[in-house]
Amino acid sequence: MLTEQEKDIIKGTVPVLEEYGTGITKTFYRKMFEAHPELLNMFNQTNQKVGDQPEALAKTVLAAARHIDNLEAILPVVIGIGHKHRALNVKPEHYPIVGKYLLEAIKHVLGPNATEDILIAWEKYYGQIAQVFIDVEKNMYKEADWDGFQPFEVINKELLSDDIVRFTVKNDVLNFAVRAGQYITVKVKPENSEYDALRHYSISSIDTSNGLQFAVRREGKGDEKGVVSHHMFNELNIGDTVEISAPAGDFLLDPSDDHLLFIAGGVGITPIMSMIEEALGNNKSIKLIYSVRNESELPFKEELEALKEKIDVEVRLTHEQGRLSGKDFRDYIEHSVYLCGSMDFMQSMIHFLQDEGFEMDQINYEPFGPKMSISI
Ligand code: HEM
Repeated sequence: MLTEQEKDIIKGTVPVLEEYGTGITKTFYRKMFEAHPELLNMFNQTNQKVGDQPEALAKTVLAAARHIDNLEAILPVVIGIGHKHRALNVKPEHYPIVGKYLLEAIKHVLGPNATEDILIAWEKYYGQIAQVFIDVEKNMYKEADWDGFQPFEVINKELLSDDIVRFTVKNDVLNFAVRAGQYITVKVKPENSEYDALRHYSISSIDTSNGLQFAVRREGKGDEKGVVSHHMFNELNIGDTVEISAPAGDFLLDPSDDHLLFIAGGVGITPIMSMIEEALGNNKSIKLIYSVRNESELPFKEELEALKEKIDVEVRLTHEQGRLSGKDFRDYIEHSVYLCGSMDFMQSMIHFLQDEGFEMDQINYEPFGPKMSISI
């Protein structure tokens, strides 16, 4: 346990973390990967380049420092991250490695300002935070439908739009159930890559009787192209095997919500399709607002047409009809919101909703990227 004096030291470093947090976490990753290149098999290198991941880690550490008197307050955040960690197979033995290089990075970035007292207090506090994560993840490992990554056979691959494919995969040995809104995590080794690459993809249907379905969008072009999504889009075919870890995620429908507003952008429609599937037939009032650039980028065309018979569906083709804005949500202030899309889309939708008077506890969201890097 930290002494009161050590707690004060941690609190005193909050302004420093605010200023140098991302610098510290960037240095941390560089040092950690130099010493443990095997961890490159686990981390998404694109998120490192873009800077979202160092930012998300810095914000989490900052949140922990702010809530030192009541660490429980950040439990919902820990649970969200814990799901990702479990899906990626992060284990208790990894935590001391992260701790060692986080501390070295604090020392490196703060220079002479990183006094012995500060370093000792942070070493102890990191241990405490790490234990919270380890405990939360222990339960998740127990509840997971299977251990680590297991092979699945691709039994179907369908082009849903210019850049989105839907895979159906099967493993006859495993027993599992998926919940609407969850994702699976794939492990692949793209050509010319020394390391494994892991990515999360949302499940598009809760019906697994004919296999597990998920959608993959081919990201970026040329030098900027997403290594894994292009590999899956171009190289992974029917009959091939892909390694997958058990479904994870806390972007789930609250059964007590009766008025539901779903807002999706681009491939963010994927988990929303499974949520609507679950909500249908439960006497819910459902509205879907779907923003997509143009007709050629519109996935799930047949399913969306069929949904129009059952719920209120509004598809906004933004190149022709303009982008969504706050007034599109004005009539739904009594609804619980479920929102999914790119980081930028998510950020602007949350701000629109807040400006319209929606409360944050009414808004459930799942960005396709590190959640903590979003500014609310
Ligand atoms: C993801 C925090 C320990 C590996 C994340 C994210 C956060 C985070 C905020 C982003 C989650 C999201 O996508 O929404 C932390 C904190 C830790 C910790 C505060 C310590 C207390 C670890 C450890 C490992 C690890 C010990 C394994 C060496 C990962 C990986 C990702 C991740 C691989 C996915 C990042 C990516 O590939 O972009 N963590 N983490 N984390 N974490 Fe941790």
